Amino acid sequence: MKIALTGASGFIGRRLIERLRAGGHALHVLGRRAAAGLPFSFWDAGGENLPPEESLREADAVVHLAGEPVAQRWTAEAKRRIRATRVDGTRRLVDALARLARRPAVLACASAIGIYGSRGEEILDESSTPGDGFLAGVCQEWEQAAAGAEALGVRVARLRIGVVLGRDGGALARILRPFKVGFGGRLGNGRQWMSWIHLDDLVELLRFAVETPALRGPVNAVAPGAVTNAEFTRHLAAELNRPAPFPVPAFTLRAIFGEMASVLLDSQRVAPTAALSAGFRFGHPELAPALRQLLG
Ligand SMILES: NC(=O)c1ccc[n+]([C@@H]2O[C@H](COP(=O)([O-])OP(=O)(O)OC[C@H]3O[C@@H](n4cnc5c(N)ncnc54)[C@H](OP(=O)(O)O)[C@@H]3O)[C@@H](O)[C@H]2O)c1
Repeated sequence: MKIALTGASGFIGRRLIERLRAGGHALHVLGRRAAAGLPFSFWDAGGENLPPEESLREADAVVHLAGEPVAQRWTAEAKRRIRATRVDGTRRLVDALARLARRPAVLACASAIGIYGSRGEEILDESSTPGDGFLAGVCQEWEQAAAGAEALGVRVARLRIGVVLGRDGGALARILRPFKVGFGGRLGNGRQWMSWIHLDDLVELLRFAVETPALRGPVNAVAPGAVTNAEFTRHLAAELNRPAPFPVPAFTLRAIFGEMASVLLDSQRVAPTAALSAGFRFGHPELAPALRQLLG
C-alpha cells in the first residue's frame, strides 16, 4: 500500500515508519522535516495551507499523527497551538482529501483517551460518552474533523491513544528520571487509573487499522491491563529495583504543571473493546512484563 504519514518525525511516527517499511508499504512523509530516504512534502499542521495535492494523490491510506506536544505548561499560546495543530490541521487534511479525484481508502487519525475526561473507576469503552476539560474538548473537535472524511467515502479509524510506553522518549523517559535517583513515588493519591500501551503494540494497531476494513470509528489504543497510578509506581520501582518512597501531592503537581497536571491526575480506566473485537492481539497486554521488556 502507499501510505501518506504526518507526524513522522515524532515518538510514535519514527517507530511506525520502521514497522510499515518492514511490512512492505511505500511511504510518503508530510511534515516540517524530511525523513531520511523517504519521499517528502512540506506541510505544517499548525499553518494556513492545505497539504500539497501530490503528497496525497497516490495514497491508499493516510496516517495522521501531527500535533503540538501536550506535555508542556498549558499557557494560552500553548493551548492555541495544541488545538490548532490538531483540529484545524485535521480539517485542512480532510479538505485536501476532498479535492482529490482518487481518495485513499482509509484515514487512521490519532486521538487520545483524554477524550473521556476524568472518570474514577468507570470502565470506558468506545461507546462511553466524552468527558469534560480542555483535552476532552480538543479531542472531540479533533475526532469530528477526522470523521469529516467519512462523507468523502474514506473509512476513518480514530485511535484514542493511551500513555505510550517506549524506550526512547515519550512518557516513560519523563517518569523514569525521578525513579532512577530514588525520588519516585505515586502521583496524588495514586488511585487514578492509567491506561497505557506499549509502543510496539500501538504501531501494530495503527498498521492493523490501516489494513482491516472492518475497523472504523473510535478505537481505544490501550493495553487490556490498565492499572492505577499506585500499581504502576509499584511495578516500576520493582523492575528498577529502587524504592519509590516520595508520593507527589496533587497540589504540588498543580503548582508545577498548572492545568496540565490533569494529564497526570485524571482517572481513565479504558478498555480496548473495538480492537479486541476486530481480532487484534496485543503483544504486551500486562504492565509488569511490558516494563521488564522496555527496561531490560
Ligand atoms: N505519545 C503519547 O503518549 C500519546 C498519547 C496520546 C495521544 N498521542 C497523540 O499521538 C500523536 C503522535 O504522538 P507523538 O508522541 O509521536 O508526538 P510527538 O513526538 O510530539 O510528535 C508529533 C509530531 O507532530 C508534529 N508537530 C509537533 N508540533 C507541531 C507544531 N507546533 N506544528 C506543526 N506540527 C507539529 C511534528 O512533526 P513534523 O515536525 O515532522 O511536522 C512532530 O513530530 C499526537 O497527536 C499525540 O497527541 C500521543
